[in-house]
Amino acid sequence: MLGALNVHDLRAAARRRLPRLVFGSLEGGAEDHLTLRANREALERIRLVPRALVDVSRRSQSVAIFGTPFDCPFGIAPIGGAGLYCRGAEIALARAARAANVPFVLSTHSFIPVEQVTRGAGTAPWFQLYMHRERAVSEKAVRRAVDAGCEVLVVTADVPRGGNREYNERNGYTLPARLGLRMMIDGLLHPGWLAGVYFRSLVGCQLAEWGTRRDIHSWADFDWLRRTWPRKLVVKGVLTVADAHLAEQHGADGVWISNHGGRQLDGAPASVEALPEIAAVIGRRLTLMVDGGFRRGADIVKALALGADMVFVGRMPLYGAAADGEAGASRALQILKSEVDRVLALLGCASIAELGPHHLRLPTG
Ligand code: FNR
Repeated sequence: MLGALNVHDLRAAARRRLPRLVFGSLEGGAEDHLTLRANREALERIRLVPRALVDVSRRSQSVAIFGTPFDCPFGIAPIGGAGLYCRGAEIALARAARAANVPFVLSTHSFIPVEQVTRGAGTAPWFQLYMHRERAVSEKAVRRAVDAGCEVLVVTADVPRGGNREYNERNGYTLPARLGLRMMIDGLLHPGWLAGVYFRSLVGCQLAEWGTRRDIHSWADFDWLRRTWPRKLVVKGVLTVADAHLAEQHGADGVWISNHGGRQLDGAPASVEALPEIAAVIGRRLTLMVDGGFRRGADIVKALALGADMVFVGRMPLYGAAADGEAGASRALQILKSEVDRVLALLGCASIAELGPHHLRLPTG
């Protein structure tokens, strides 16, 4: 994986290794991919404005989030069913994140329980919660995350129903994965995945319940969570100033701007488009996180200059993990770190704190 120079190389390697419909399930977005594309297009339209002759020989990209120092201003977003792309993906990602000293968020829909990920990585992840229709089930998940030592609970709020991911339906893709005829043929064409991932980690693996009803949840449930969870609490899936205000009023410590990587409401705005207005009203009172379409260090720097405290990447490190397990995930993080460092230098910026809108030219109209 050392040969991979950028996200495109990692993606190509993942694509070679995974059956077509499995790769498709990682790549795709909802319906016509309007929001999936918007995430990229909005980032690409922002220009970076360099300053000349600035001494940037002592640069740092470290940040502190919720009082914890991290070496980089990015982390790994929760990916449900990550074990489908790489055997033991959650531990591979958690270990890579630990080595890079960046946060890793474990999905409710992990194939590996939080206790085992914590043991395997030697550190507790942040935990992402999908609230369950039965409070007792959510409470049990929260209790286990507390006991495992998770410092941050991220509650995902943008899935009252699953997005309309037609490619999965067309491909006959289901989770938990069942080896239907098409998957079997696809798998036989990718024997490394079939033997190394499917048979070794999917057969007999225990999953948290996938099909629970989520359209019943409201801020009242969030209030319950606030009373139940003793540490930092973040709402993921916010795209409006109004919801960011509500998150603050209901006691959230952080807001995570996200459209779920374009997999939920097709036509929703790009995350980076929603960022400046939310940053303007929330300011420094809450920690501001963002994800959606970030593929390069330059993308990350753009969001930080617009007021984000930390950027999360979903598919990017998964490409690395799918291609080469922990080494591939580590390579993805190294690439991003080195890109962020270079962009900071080229901008004439020695630290993340110095970044601001003056480093950007935003699209007009
Ligand atoms: C996700 N995402 C997600 N989010 C979440 O809160 N819980 C989850 O279990 C999942 N599962 C999941 C699976 C897959 C295959 C993808 C691609 C995404 C959304 C994820 O956390 C994040 O918001 C997006 O992936 C960010 O966009 P990029 O970086 O992938 O473009």
